[in-house]
Amino acid sequence: MTLASEWLDDRERASVKRFVFDHDRRQYSVAHAMLRRVLALETGVPESGLEFGRTARGRPFLREPEGGWPRGAGGIDFNLSHCRGTNALAVVRHRRVGVDVERCDRRDFDLDRLVGAFTTEERGWISAMPDPAERARAGLRLWTLKEAYAKARGLGLGLPFDSFAFHLAPGRGVLGFVPPDDDRDGVWGFAELTSGRRTLLALAVECAHTPVTGVRVSDGFPWRPHASLESLCPEPDAPVHLVGAPDS
Ligand SMILES: CC(C)(COP(=O)(O)OP(=O)(O)OC[C@H]1O[C@@H](n2cnc3c(N)ncnc32)[C@H](O)[C@@H]1OP(=O)(O)O)[C@@H](O)C(=O)NCCC(=O)NCCS
Repeated sequence: MTLASEWLDDRERASVKRFVFDHDRRQYSVAHAMLRRVLALETGVPESGLEFGRTARGRPFLREPEGGWPRGAGGIDFNLSHCRGTNALAVVRHRRVGVDVERCDRRDFDLDRLVGAFTTEERGWISAMPDPAERARAGLRLWTLKEAYAKARGLGLGLPFDSFAFHLAPGRGVLGFVPPDDDRDGVWGFAELTSGRRTLLALAVECAHTPVTGVRVSDGFPWRPHASLESLCPEPDAPVHLVGAPDS
C-alpha cells in the first residue's frame, strides 16, 4: 500500500488524514489505489497522472489530460462505493454508471428508517413478508438499487427515494423500474450481485443509446492473475443480465 499511496493526489491524501480510525483510512486508501490502477489500465494514463474533477454534488469524474487520451480512451465513467471492508468499483464507456455496496450485518442498520424512505408500494411489498430476515434483505436490496441509481444520476441522497420505484423478483432481479419525473423509462439497466453472504451490491447502468453487451465481474482485484473473472452476455430483453459471484 505504501507505494500505491504515492499515486494519490492532495485531495485524496487530505481525505485519508481526516479518518479517525485506521481501518477507515486503510479502506479509503485501498479503494482509491484500486480506482487509479483500474483507470490507468483502461486509459493508458499512469496512476498518479490521472486527474479527477467533481460535480457540484460531489460526483467524481475523469478530466481529459492535456493532449488528449493516449489510447483514444475517452468516454469513461466510473463509480465507487465502500462499506466496512468491501470496496466496489464500476467502470463503463460511453454511458453512466452507479454502484452501491452494503453489508447485511451492519450494526447501525435501522430497517424502519430505511423502508420509511421508500414508496407506499415498496413499503407494502416489504411489510407483507412474514420473516424479519427476509424483510431486512428486501429492504437492503431496494436501498442498494436506489442508491446505485441516484449515484449514476450524480444526485446521491439528494434524490428522494420515494420519487422512483423498483419491482423486484423474490430472490434477485429487477422486474420493473418507475423512474422519477425528470427521467425516462427504458434508459437504465440494473444488476444485483452478491459477494459472500453478507454483502449486497447493486449496479445501475445507462443503456438507452448503446445496449450493454456484457458485464465483467471481478470478485477481487481485477489485475490479479487468478481473479475470478466472468464474462456475461445479457439476455435480449434484459439490458443488464442479473448476475452474481457465488455466495461463499
Ligand atoms: C453519493 C452519496 C450517496 C454517497 O454516500 P456514501 O454512503 O458515502 O456511499 P458510497 O460509499 O456508496 O459512495 C461513496 C463514493 O461515491 C462517490 N460519490 C460522491 N458523491 C457522489 C455523487 N453525488 N454521485 C455519485 N457518486 C458520488 C465518491 O467516489 C465516493 O467515494 P470517495 O469519497 O471515496 O471518492 C452521498 O455522499 C450523497 O448523497 N452525496 C450528494 C450530496 C449532495 O447532494 N450535496 C449537495 C451539494 S451541498
